[in-house]
Amino acid sequence: MLLESQTKDINEARQGEVYAPFEKDPNKYEKKFYIESYGCQMNFNDSEIVASILHRDGFGATKYMEEASLILLNTCSIREKAEQTVRNRLQIFRSYKKERPGLLIGVLGCMAERLKSKWLEEEKLVDIVVGPDAYRSLPALVAEAEGGQKAVNVLLSREETYSDISPVRLDSNGVSAFISIMRGCNNMCTFCVVPFTRGRERSRPPQSILKEAQDMLDRGYREVTLLGQNVDSYYHTENGKEPVNFAQLLEMTAQLSPLLRVRFSTSHPKDITDEVLHTMAKYPNICKYIHLPVQSGSTRILQLMNRTYTREWYLKKIDHIRQIIPECAISSDIITGFCTETEADHEDTLSVMRYSRYDLSYMFAYSERPGTLAQRRYEDDVPETVKKQRLNEIIALQTAMTRENHLTDIGKTFEVLIESESRRSKEHWSGRNSQNKVVVFPKNEVHTGKGDYVQVRITDTTGATLLGEIVS
Ligand code: SAH
Ligand code: SF4
Ligand code: F3S
Repeated sequence: MLLESQTKDINEARQGEVYAPFEKDPNKYEKKFYIESYGCQMNFNDSEIVASILHRDGFGATKYMEEASLILLNTCSIREKAEQTVRNRLQIFRSYKKERPGLLIGVLGCMAERLKSKWLEEEKLVDIVVGPDAYRSLPALVAEAEGGQKAVNVLLSREETYSDISPVRLDSNGVSAFISIMRGCNNMCTFCVVPFTRGRERSRPPQSILKEAQDMLDRGYREVTLLGQNVDSYYHTENGKEPVNFAQLLEMTAQLSPLLRVRFSTSHPKDITDEVLHTMAKYPNICKYIHLPVQSGSTRILQLMNRTYTREWYLKKIDHIRQIIPECAISSDIITGFCTETEADHEDTLSVMRYSRYDLSYMFAYSERPGTLAQRRYEDDVPETVKKQRLNEIIALQTAMTRENHLTDIGKTFEVLIESESRRSKEHWSGRNSQNKVVVFPKNEVHTGKGDYVQVRITDTTGATLLGEIVS
């Protein structure tokens, strides 16, 4: 369940999966575009903003590449493998373009930002290159490309939050939606390419976030996830207005309706505050789940990574969360084989995992990224085989802990928000509890459906999913 290629979460959502928002009435539009997205949930959310910008310009989204005159790839640079996936996709588009003269191909997102106009030199088939802060210029770039020119805009911005653009949500389950509350990242974790591809951190005005959440609620959605690379450093200031921090934003969102669940991701251990924890404890509709990536359990490695906390400091934070919110689920991201990592450092990571009793972890072998501080300062000296072997060990530990943790849920009753029919059976619903665990249970005679809350008693587990029955 936890292999890199299979991870599914906010940070690494649907890596490699095709995402194509489609227009319900595509015939409304003369021109159509097709978009595939890779990387984190923020990137997927950006595709929805792009869809909205292109709709205004008369382009309808289509699920079918054959119908499109514009193909867009929204790309991710987080690991070498993510970039390789995009390159493989472009190979396929290359032959496709030969059959369809006039077809335009655009590269968006983090890889566009990282490689800039190199795309046009190296990948002759790419017509448009647009970085994450330049999506408003997409219509003009498309027009330029239609006129036969190559079009590039990779300017990063200190202000852009796309706050006035309402994302087009055509590929969602109609129950849960993601709302970007900030962009960029000011941390300089030495392994990470994000500060270079996404630019400086900036917070979106709270009014526009609340408006979007209210709009989702009015349209029947029952869960919003507030997204940012480091949500706890959300801080919005505006002349003549009181500043708003993350705890306050969380509270205001939770107050929209007790029927609206609120989640958030990602929290940096150094920035999550007691105010946030107490706000979580106070509102039943703020989900009891924190994604708190540790990255490594060794203080020495954490320092090389510039995470700015020690192993002990992190473990105290875990204790503190459990004190304030005893039922809180905690998940993590972990990297194996970072520069100079020894067997003893690796043991430290395993012991932090055991102590923290993570409900879930997203685990990766270190992949050196060009231009990052780690690439410039340290040697990528842990052999691939060792990285993989350590990765397998932490995956095995997490899988066992997840199974154990699920076994302790048997007999408990949880409130579950129904999201969809189970993928395996039309006779079953699938939803999640507050702790973000997937719960599958038989439909019963009581009239329930997507977006309803039900009490489910857990009777069994597959190890990764909880199974149960409706009790009221
Ligand atoms: N902003 C989030 C995560 C962003 S990227 C945070 O701070 O936690 C998601 C995850 O990818 C990271 O948490 C890290 O575990 C992993 N990651 C980032 N760069 C990586 C690299 N160069 N090699 C391997 N994994 C990496
Ligand atoms: Fe990357 Fe660190 Fe910023 Fe997360 S907090 S996006 S890991 S630099
Ligand atoms: Fe996200 Fe990948 Fe960019 S994880 S921020 S799309 S590098």
